Amino acid sequence: MLVWDRSGIYVDGTIGGGGHARAILDRLDESGRLIGMDRDLEAVSVSRARIAGGSNSRVKIMHREFTELASVLEAEQISRVDGVLLDLGVSSYQIDTPGRGFSFQAEGPLDMRMDTGKALTAADIVNGSSRDEIERIIREYGEERQARSVANAIVRTRANAPLASTARLADTIRSAVRRQWAVKSCARVFQAFRIAVNNELDKLKTSLDTMLPLLSHRGRFGVISYHSLEDRMVKRTFETWASDCICPPGLPQCVCRHKRVAVLHTKRPVVASREEVTKNPRSRSARFRMIERLPNEQPTH
Ligand SMILES: C[S@@+](CC[C@H](N)C(=O)[O-])C[C@H]1O[C@@H](n2cnc3c(N)ncnc32)[C@H](O)[C@@H]1O
Repeated sequence: MLVWDRSGIYVDGTIGGGGHARAILDRLDESGRLIGMDRDLEAVSVSRARIAGGSNSRVKIMHREFTELASVLEAEQISRVDGVLLDLGVSSYQIDTPGRGFSFQAEGPLDMRMDTGKALTAADIVNGSSRDEIERIIREYGEERQARSVANAIVRTRANAPLASTARLADTIRSAVRRQWAVKSCARVFQAFRIAVNNELDKLKTSLDTMLPLLSHRGRFGVISYHSLEDRMVKRTFETWASDCICPPGLPQCVCRHKRVAVLHTKRPVVASREEVTKNPRSRSARFRMIERLPNEQPTH
């Protein structure tokens, strides 16, 4: 449970359509506050209309990245918060809006920007990067085994005319992999370009590196991730925070003098129940992990 003090200050760093924010707000009393952030202006407008409308002064929703939390809190004159939630990745709204270019199942521009005010689109990467860079993106961020064939197919296709639509990219991927793997490969390659366009892993790393000092003592930090690259980063960071020794295995005695700064609330990640997956199939790959900052401990970095 993220909310442990009903009159505390909480942050939803990825407010999207406001579902989690609403649930947090429902657990707060009249003096509890919620700050919502999203890099997608449409998500900010939607969630403002849904939960911050009228005179709801307990809620503030901003068009900001979660990596900017420290400066947001400084501007709000808040020194520490009692809980932060990050629900990573794309929202259903973004995927289901063909014009945003996130889905390989709908025709749309090859865009994939979460923040449409930023310049770099998927088309820029797909048409402007070297063959090796495209292969690296697909292999690293998509964990796609056929990365080389897909990169070669993209380079061949764009030699005729730049790839400008999701449908053309999806056709190109299908042409490079076996038919039985086509759907999974499309999903992985689209995920790879989306991660690259939005620099998602660096954003998560920055947030993990800077989060602890922003939490009150006993403050909680929960992250929902949807693929193994993110989940691995979160898991390792949380385990380091919760460990009294981070020496490499095999040393006869501890030399690191590391002191734990948090306790793990989730030894194993929490996954969606069967009912949740039936209601929302995208929750199938969700993994939730949470820590609690220990009282009277200073962050070690
Ligand atoms: C999975 S959705 C969140 C859904 C939300 N929890 C809800 O209940 O509707 C992820 C959201 O995070 C946003 N997002 C992704 N990276 C972000 C970042 N670095 N800073 C702020 N928002 C980000 C996306 O724009 C998207 O709206």
